[in-house]
Amino acid sequence: MSTLIKNGTIVTADDIYRGDVYIEDEIIKEIGLNICKRADVVIDAKGKYVIPGGIDIHTHLNIHVGKVTASDDFYTGTVAAACGGTTCIVDHMGFGPKDCDLTHQVKVYHKYADGKAVIDYGFHGVIQNINDNRLEELKKLLEEEGIPSSKMYLTYDFKLSDYEALRLLARQKELGGITAVHCENNDSIKYLKEYFIKQGKIQPIYHALSRPAEVEGEAINRMINLAKIAGDAPLYIVHLSTEIGLEYIKMARDRGQMVYAETCPQYLLLTEDKLRQPDGLKYIFSPPLRRERDTAALWSGIKDGYIQTIATDHCPFFYKGEKQLGKDNFADCPNGGPGIEERIPLIFSEGVVKGRIGINKFVDVCSTAPAKLSGLYPRKGHIAVGSDADIVLIDPDKEVTMTRDILHENVDYTMYEGFKVRGYPVLTMVRGEIIVQDNKFIGKKGYGKFIKRHRITHL
Ligand code: URP
Ligand code: ZN
Ligand code: ZN
Repeated sequence: MSTLIKNGTIVTADDIYRGDVYIEDEIIKEIGLNICKRADVVIDAKGKYVIPGGIDIHTHLNIHVGKVTASDDFYTGTVAAACGGTTCIVDHMGFGPKDCDLTHQVKVYHKYADGKAVIDYGFHGVIQNINDNRLEELKKLLEEEGIPSSKMYLTYDFKLSDYEALRLLARQKELGGITAVHCENNDSIKYLKEYFIKQGKIQPIYHALSRPAEVEGEAINRMINLAKIAGDAPLYIVHLSTEIGLEYIKMARDRGQMVYAETCPQYLLLTEDKLRQPDGLKYIFSPPLRRERDTAALWSGIKDGYIQTIATDHCPFFYKGEKQLGKDNFADCPNGGPGIEERIPLIFSEGVVKGRIGINKFVDVCSTAPAKLSGLYPRKGHIAVGSDADIVLIDPDKEVTMTRDILHENVDYTMYEGFKVRGYPVLTMVRGEIIVQDNKFIGKKGYGKFIKRHRITHL
């Protein structure tokens, strides 16, 4: 099977040029001006941007949390991702039973995804405790399972102590892996939640007020210092939401530390006022939404290169019956929100079209840098000879009003209802197969492959 994409404007993380892309057997075989080869399928990309497919390295499909399960599974979630211009995800696995070994959840997640995913995928390891066995298992995870990154938490049920974090960081450095971390100070959240709830302050806004910016700032600063103490171990900070956290990251990167940061569209485009609305429960996730000065700082952080990736933390629950479990107390609302489908159009429109970032930076933060920092590059995240033909066409003139009804996520709301975007993905190809055309999924259930990732490419 061969495909020729003609007359498009090819955009990579560091280049933009007119050209054709010739694809054979899932792989990009040739790039050039006026390629005159016969192909089974010819796509006219005139007037469109031809970009490497989006890579979302922070999703939670099918995750079980307490009484509820995320409403998108590996089929519906990846269909939605594909319709939004994402061709590969790396999913953060949920916690397993106490004391389970590191491969326990990998087996569970292969069962969730196999035969369902429509785009390629990987998993991040999930760290619930640290002992000699876990440290040994990290090697197996990296070398046999294709998982070089694992996430640890400083809050929730399986938070690590500083001692455990140090051992994990040092071991990942030794193996050539990377530690991803959820940075929130657990005791501060516990104290503030009790403080507010005792006074009957149980509305959604108290979710944010019980997790102020310093909760994230303290944890980021701590983890950065622990990474240094552990022998200058690499660190990947997920879902950065605050200016104060960014300040600590800047300080560390300016000192030459290997600290990377990810933010998400919700922290760039929404503020905590959403939690004061009657439907504020829709916006309960952790870390919470912040103020305008934080959103502005995060855009600058992207522009200046201190933030390398934009992922989604897609973790959807139905408003009706699920998010509304928190109607009498914000603390009972499952944490998480949808966004896997909205990311690429939102960042293109709010970032590139509005002049906050250039188009190469857009490709970098949404595809290339996530591929590098998760061990997928250059197979994915790039348009180059030899890379997988994971390609998205964006029509820069297409105007769309974001609304639940045009999206494919299995959930009853979008956090971006009414957002007017300019520029939208009109074709999504994974390994040479067109799986979405004009917002219609035409791919096959189970086409997505698990990708064994290798050691990361440092930036
Ligand atoms: O509230 C959130 N973000 N839920 C997903 C789990 C996590 O911490 O990333
Ligand atoms: Zn997290
Ligand atoms: Zn998450």
